[in-house]
Amino acid sequence: MKAALQSRLFAPLVSTAGWGGRATRAEVNLDVIAANVRELRRLVQPALLLVVAKADGYGHGSVPVARAALEAGADRIGVYTVDEAVALRLAGILAPVLVFGPFTRAEAGLIWDHDLTPMISSYEGALALQEHSRGRKLRYHVKIDTGLTRAGVEPENLLPLVAKLSTFSALEREGVFTHFARADEKAKHSTLSQFENFRQAVQRLEEAGYSFPLRHAANSSAILDLPETYLDMVRTGIGVYGYYPSGEVGRTVPLRPALSLVSNISRIHKVAKGTGVGYGHEFVCEHEASIALVPIGYGDGLPRTFGLTNGSVLVNGRPAPVVGRVSMDQITVDVSKAGKVHMGDPVTLIGDQDGTVQTADDVARQTSTISYDILTGLLPRVPRLYVRDGRIVGVRRYLPSEPTPLGDESAQA
Ligand SMILES: Cc1ncc(COP(=O)(O)O)c(C=O)c1O
Repeated sequence: MKAALQSRLFAPLVSTAGWGGRATRAEVNLDVIAANVRELRRLVQPALLLVVAKADGYGHGSVPVARAALEAGADRIGVYTVDEAVALRLAGILAPVLVFGPFTRAEAGLIWDHDLTPMISSYEGALALQEHSRGRKLRYHVKIDTGLTRAGVEPENLLPLVAKLSTFSALEREGVFTHFARADEKAKHSTLSQFENFRQAVQRLEEAGYSFPLRHAANSSAILDLPETYLDMVRTGIGVYGYYPSGEVGRTVPLRPALSLVSNISRIHKVAKGTGVGYGHEFVCEHEASIALVPIGYGDGLPRTFGLTNGSVLVNGRPAPVVGRVSMDQITVDVSKAGKVHMGDPVTLIGDQDGTVQTADDVARQTSTISYDILTGLLPRVPRLYVRDGRIVGVRRYLPSEPTPLGDESAQA
């Protein structure tokens, strides 16, 4: 919980309960996204800036985030799945989109159809792309596993792989990259050792005649702490959304959270001492209490642990404890010490209420996780309201569609 001093961390909330939909909502300020992009861009220039908009733009909405980021000077977008990339193309986003994740043979066709930039780390992946070729060149990036022990080709297998890929007429080298395991920690020896592995691997490629115009390694943590890792391009995710990756990285540029998660009280119970609250009566009132019901639950993406640890929400500009289990659709909040509380009063889960701030980092701390998890965990049932110039310019509501038959082109295009 931060003091009122920092209350300008969040842009003022624009929507009220009367906005025209569900009380529970996430308000995403696209001007804040743009400002964060500009700050990061200024820091890393002349390196290119790739904005990571995977997992629905870290829960903010990948399409509006990508658009706002590109308008603010981002050069490229990165996602994990082919479908995430196709969604951007269908929304009319023409900038290069790098797909970090693996793709199936069927998805190789989609990569061509939508002119996506695949990550390649195996011969099989490259072969699938070559077989689906459309009579032009497709740019690709090779990922090297320099120590995260996750995706990517091992440095010892890199040269033979790139040599093979270079025989494929349809493929064109564009990028070579790696991803850090521990850049968000204060001690940087592991990251610098990964970076050195990367540098050497790239040098061996160059000596063998395989150059890549875009070498990239830095994520948000490295952007903030390690300028020597910028190379030709950096990849920032969490910074764009306004969060520092951990408490151990430098606050090198000012970043502001772009998303507020708010709701309104839907009921108030006056209950006697000894009353059990919620499933399992996990919480029993030790004294007479006022329990407020707030219509948000784990079906909206709130961690179930929120009610069982020391989770709180803001009511009347101060923290009030979440008590009892988080249900699928609602939480119960002890507002006995929150002053005068009425039905319909605003509740802030993430954001600023009368100068008191609760961030996704605070919620993450309360639920033993990280801001990334809290933000990407927000489910489609939470409407996203988009703000620009102090007014709501778009709304994304819960609109599930019928499943389309497998193989139906309209399902893919
Ligand atoms: C390959 C890759 N690059 C960059 C990022 C961005 O990381 P961050 O959100 O910490 O900036 C991610 C996110 O996990 C990633 O998978």
